[in-house]
Amino acid sequence: MTTQAVPALAAEGVTSGYDEVPIIHDVSIHVDQDEIVTIIGPNGAGKSTLLKALFGFLPPWQGRVLLAGKEVTGLSPERLVRQGIGFVPQTDNVFPSLTIRENLAMGGITRDGGVNERIDWVLELFPVLAERPRERAGRLSGGQRQTLALARALMLEPKVLLLDEPSASLSPKMVETVFANVVEINRRGTAVLMVEQSARQALAISHRGYVLANGENRLEGPARDLLASDDVRRLYLGE
Ligand SMILES: Nc1ncnc2c1ncn2[C@@H]1O[C@H](COP(=O)(O)OP(=O)(O)O)[C@@H](O)[C@H]1O
Ligand SMILES: [Mg+2]
Repeated sequence: MTTQAVPALAAEGVTSGYDEVPIIHDVSIHVDQDEIVTIIGPNGAGKSTLLKALFGFLPPWQGRVLLAGKEVTGLSPERLVRQGIGFVPQTDNVFPSLTIRENLAMGGITRDGGVNERIDWVLELFPVLAERPRERAGRLSGGQRQTLALARALMLEPKVLLLDEPSASLSPKMVETVFANVVEINRRGTAVLMVEQSARQALAISHRGYVLANGENRLEGPARDLLASDDVRRLYLGE
């Protein structure tokens, strides 16, 4: 018998929303430690809301969130970060007036030590940042800025990284770069759960995917099966 791996992160029947209005209903998803998992779905489906509920920005009203098998439902973002979750929001994910190096140092501010060593580690991973450590983040291109946001999240060595539309408003070339970064981060041992509008390209680098519609689980499966499905292509990939 094979041992069933405990998912790096799981939502079990999570319902949440804003004020009194529920947005996601009974949503269940998981990402294993070696996986990249992508959530696709129409605008307004509740994808960002789900990430916020997983990261403690919104309290789950029902259901559970499990991190490496341990229940973390309702914990604050600060506590979740300490337990190994990283989150890169879609916008406002760097400090524009600080340099690349300062942004990375801020990302590592809650570390016990080894900030400079970790900065060296992420700069080695992303040469585009290493070439200009004193450049202010506000002067970077969109792709460089997304790379910095990813790099900053890696400062705390998360076990699981949540990414909200990392490719949004980037040129096709830059989208490729950002997804290549995601693959490399995963290869080095971080589980990745991302939400994407560039659904075809995101699924192409993912192990599994979920379709969320109207705040509910609609479909799930290996990424290649979703990419091959006529329904998914017609309804969610715009083909
Ligand atoms: N801060 C908020 N307050 C109230 N409603 C919100 C808020 N953010 C999003 N919503 C609503 O929640 C629904 C889902 O939004 P969202 O999770 O951003 O969808 P997606 O990321 O899939 O495009 C939308 O109807 C949106 O208007
Ligand atoms: Mg969104």
